[in-house]
Amino acid sequence: MKVVLMSDIHYNCANYFGRDPEVAMECLSEDLGAEYEKAPYDALLLLGDYSLDHWAWQTKGTYLGAGVSNTKAFVEKYLPRLLKKGVEVRMIPGNHEQYGDELWNAFTGHKRQEHIVLGDILFILGDAYGADLDPIEHSDGTYVGADVEKIRALMAEYPDKKVILCAHWFDVTRESEDFRRLLCEEERILCLFCGHNHKSIIMNTGDGAGNKPILCTGHYSYSGEVNNILCPPGYRVLEFDESGLACKYVTHSHAYQIEGVSFTTEYAEINALYIPFR
Ligand SMILES: [Fe+2]
Repeated sequence: MKVVLMSDIHYNCANYFGRDPEVAMECLSEDLGAEYEKAPYDALLLLGDYSLDHWAWQTKGTYLGAGVSNTKAFVEKYLPRLLKKGVEVRMIPGNHEQYGDELWNAFTGHKRQEHIVLGDILFILGDAYGADLDPIEHSDGTYVGADVEKIRALMAEYPDKKVILCAHWFDVTRESEDFRRLLCEEERILCLFCGHNHKSIIMNTGDGAGNKPILCTGHYSYSGEVNNILCPPGYRVLEFDESGLACKYVTHSHAYQIEGVSFTTEYAEINALYIPFR
């Protein structure tokens, strides 16, 4: 099975990496087209921040400010091009999509919390910023962390599946004691995926929280690294069979410009991890 995970697309928010938003989305379509050509992916999991629909700073969020949802525009204009025949999609909101269930569903056709079984793995996509929704004032979202009850219920529903937890963000220090216990106790939980920091690094839940890898899904907008080149726009590819899973951050060759400096990146696969199954 092959899964593409990505986040922090921030469509139509700025000319990140010196690219017009429409050009960036053309590049994204090309990148995933090439990825699919190489070997078809079974699913696309999107982990939030399609926009700056809700935002507390500078020009403020576009939804409260101008009634514009770039999330909706991305879903209508570009998402269909990323979904080749037979590709499943799940998409959860980030902190910049503070829509309640109804609006989220109206704009995307999805739920704020989703799950999907692919092969032997149950993917649980949580709603890390699921409070203070449908705000009437500009904000950056309220972190609530993982819904442990929901995770336990889904794991009970699929007792034979290995589990991967996904969310827009995991801040283990702000999670509940129950969540840390869950990570320690449940060997079925292989790893976690999240965006939000716009990095492609691999973090760890740490001692006292099961020492599970947290694979960051990078961005397709601006880098979260001080040195931008450490994390160019890209996505994570996860491949697994009965013996283990392999995951890498993939970034394609593109021409960019940052602060007047033009440069071209090479295709690269970075920050890879292999987890053998016992
Ligand atoms: Fe973001």
